[in-house]
Amino acid sequence: MKPYILTFVLLLFTSITLKANEPDSAYVFSYTSGNNRNTAGLNLAWSIDRENWHAIGPEFRFLASDFGTWGGQKKMFDPFLFQDDDSLWHCLWTLNEDVQQFAHAASTDLYNWKRQSYPKVVEEGNVTNIEVAFDEQNKVYTITWINENKGLETIFKTTTNDFKTYSVTEEATEADRLNLRKTVRIDGEVQTGVINKLSWNEIDALIKWNEWNRFHQQQRADNTSLDAERFMDLETVKAEIAVFPEKSKAISDMLIGIFFEDINYAADGGLYAELIQNRGFEYQLSDRKGNDPTWTAKKAWSLSGEEASFSIDTVAPIHTNNKHFAVLDIEKPGVALVNDGFNGIAVEKGEKYNFSVFARMLDGVKSNLLVRLVDGNGEVLAEAKTKAFSSDWKKLEAQLTATKTTAKAKLQVIPQDAEKVALDMISLFPENTFMNRKNGLRADLAQAIADMKPRFVRFPGGCVAHGDGLENIYRWNNTVGPLEARVPQRNIWNYHQSAGLGYFEYFQFCEDIDAEPIPVLAAGVPCQNSSCGGHGQQGGIPMCDMGDYIQEVLDLIEWANGDKSTKWGKVRAEAGHPEPFNLKYLGIGNEDLITDVFEERFTMIYDAVREKYPEITVIGTVGPFYTGTDYVEGWELATKLEVPMVDEHYYQPPGWFIHNQDFYDRYDRSKSKVYLGEYAAHLPGRPNNIETALSEALYMTSVERNADVVTMTSYAPLLAKEGFTQWTPDLIYFNNTEIHPTVGYYVQKLYGNNAGDSYIPSEIKLSDNSEDVKKRVAISVVEDSKTNDLIVKLVNLLPAEVDASVDLSGFDIADSEAVLSVLKGKPDSKTAKPEDSKISVSEKFDYSLPAYSFSVIRINP
Ligand code: AHR
Repeated sequence: MKPYILTFVLLLFTSITLKANEPDSAYVFSYTSGNNRNTAGLNLAWSIDRENWHAIGPEFRFLASDFGTWGGQKKMFDPFLFQDDDSLWHCLWTLNEDVQQFAHAASTDLYNWKRQSYPKVVEEGNVTNIEVAFDEQNKVYTITWINENKGLETIFKTTTNDFKTYSVTEEATEADRLNLRKTVRIDGEVQTGVINKLSWNEIDALIKWNEWNRFHQQQRADNTSLDAERFMDLETVKAEIAVFPEKSKAISDMLIGIFFEDINYAADGGLYAELIQNRGFEYQLSDRKGNDPTWTAKKAWSLSGEEASFSIDTVAPIHTNNKHFAVLDIEKPGVALVNDGFNGIAVEKGEKYNFSVFARMLDGVKSNLLVRLVDGNGEVLAEAKTKAFSSDWKKLEAQLTATKTTAKAKLQVIPQDAEKVALDMISLFPENTFMNRKNGLRADLAQAIADMKPRFVRFPGGCVAHGDGLENIYRWNNTVGPLEARVPQRNIWNYHQSAGLGYFEYFQFCEDIDAEPIPVLAAGVPCQNSSCGGHGQQGGIPMCDMGDYIQEVLDLIEWANGDKSTKWGKVRAEAGHPEPFNLKYLGIGNEDLITDVFEERFTMIYDAVREKYPEITVIGTVGPFYTGTDYVEGWELATKLEVPMVDEHYYQPPGWFIHNQDFYDRYDRSKSKVYLGEYAAHLPGRPNNIETALSEALYMTSVERNADVVTMTSYAPLLAKEGFTQWTPDLIYFNNTEIHPTVGYYVQKLYGNNAGDSYIPSEIKLSDNSEDVKKRVAISVVEDSKTNDLIVKLVNLLPAEVDASVDLSGFDIADSEAVLSVLKGKPDSKTAKPEDSKISVSEKFDYSLPAYSFSVIRINP
């Protein structure tokens, strides 16, 4: 038995055997240690004599604050815990040193906590040392606190009877205070908190909760570095595999899709084939919250040559959505406005590049532009001249053919006369985009995505969808129409979105790769970790604006599916797509904090969509984790509203995926379907290697088994530009000239290319029946009705081979050759690739699963 399992069993045993001598009740001290920059949350300790205190922990968070951003905030000070007349526990706490809100959450057992709320109760200063008194007679709670403001301390109070609505704040006096906080010593430290009395059974449940969590943490930490010792005596394992075709069930044929978010330069500088960085001169210091002085409207641009100036102007722009443009004041012709691209412009000998620009003469009569691509030494690789322009904005185009291959070309725009000119939307696209679309996508990256055969594409995020603060919510209608009229904006991942890759391009891409579009719109609230304009969720779109916002959501459906005679269908048709896009799914919300603010807005949007477009499958959201308040409350809300599908997210270590293969076996089939919209296995250091990829492959066998309830899945994130990455691991890394698919990509590709629409239950009988071995060998058998192929997926996460005898009796399989694809390698391999070969199959055949491998056998019976 592994040491941690032994510990867990002993702990349980200890607490069970001691029960006879335990008291009926004891005391619980609630406090926060203040550790980890005040993110230690609510800590508890018990005592039978109020003298000797035993931490239930150590450092165990029974409740964590969800207010503000991850990392810097989520703090808890001065928790005040009490139980009401209905035995419901309430915890109120100070959020941080300088906000005018406090936090409230409730729980029946002190470890499952309901949604949090953060009422604003003062206009200035903060809210500290909060306390609650209960007036039995009037059933009213009086909440008092000390407000620190500009060095002054004032006592305030408010009243409530439901912790949802509060009376107007009034000044209070010391007489209103209970001063219930005590100081006690716990593990040698003095702690300040509140004492409550509980039955011993309740305290015991808290202790067990902590033990269960520790056990769970140990399971999560399980990884292959323990394999040498764990499997020291393991020899080749034998496996007998049987299938049960008579028990086959229909499963989703949309299981594998992609999650596309503009993170890690996935869009501008990535999938979007535009080669010019900051083409619209719209970069702003605020894109990076003022932390990068180079991040201005001139970013990536410079002037080469003398006797000229380069400035930015905003008077009479091409469009008000695109205010900034470049002004060149030239005394002597020959100067060039130079763009460096996204860390260089990659060009290939013989390839054509389409240049365009809006130009206007500010001082002078008429002129034209010479456009060049030059390499690092100034050698001209391509050049062309535009037509003439004069005093009105005019779009000019030219085509360049590169005479040499380089990754580091620059673009030069050279006005031909001494003049003052305005230039904007300076653009360069390779002629060879994916499917040769204008304003298209980078061909190699788009092809790598298409090669996965994704059945859907979720976009534009992720956190990009709901944005950093209310002002940053991604508005789909800002991203359609002429490029020069789109609204660029700050990217939540700390850079700039040109909106060149907008809703039209996303939908077009989906159509080009035969994938369902799954747009995700904000549920009227920004990201729960927002840092701009407030802290975290910040209240949501004001109710007075929700009508317009809901209309915007409905407009998207009209834009996608409406006839071209409709207002928004016409916009789509004018962009070049007269036929509807046939949108079927719509995501509302992205791993939001489930609060009253969220519920109110989500419900309004959901009801409006359901009423006007009942045929659309709305996908709700259940928080960022596989457990916890947002997950539980998100599911409760989805069940209450009968939301057809919910979006689950979890990034977990391989150990979690290994030990939770029954996660969906437990799901109630009568509730919402599941879209596992973001998941990935994360190891320390965040590699994408054989260990993470195989733990995902292993888990996916259990997802296929449950693909009657899990309809779709997407690994996240998808793309990452080397050197410009905010999040790892990702599925495909790339630079300006190459793409580097990961081992995780190959797992997704194997699943995507070997999907089925019915699941054949199967059984593996192993010669070694220990839990450690059993949990590391998995199978999934599916049938694809389009090809009649039978597909057997086998995962072996053991350091030893598994010799399997496969019995496919029940299927009429002739002696034949099947396609075998195997991905294998050492756990830390980041370069393994699947290899294809042929394997002889019949109704019964043998196959040896290599150590650390994922095998797919595709049989055409
Ligand atoms: O995939 C990266 C981020 O992870 C997504 O933007 C967000 O939804 C999640 O927290």
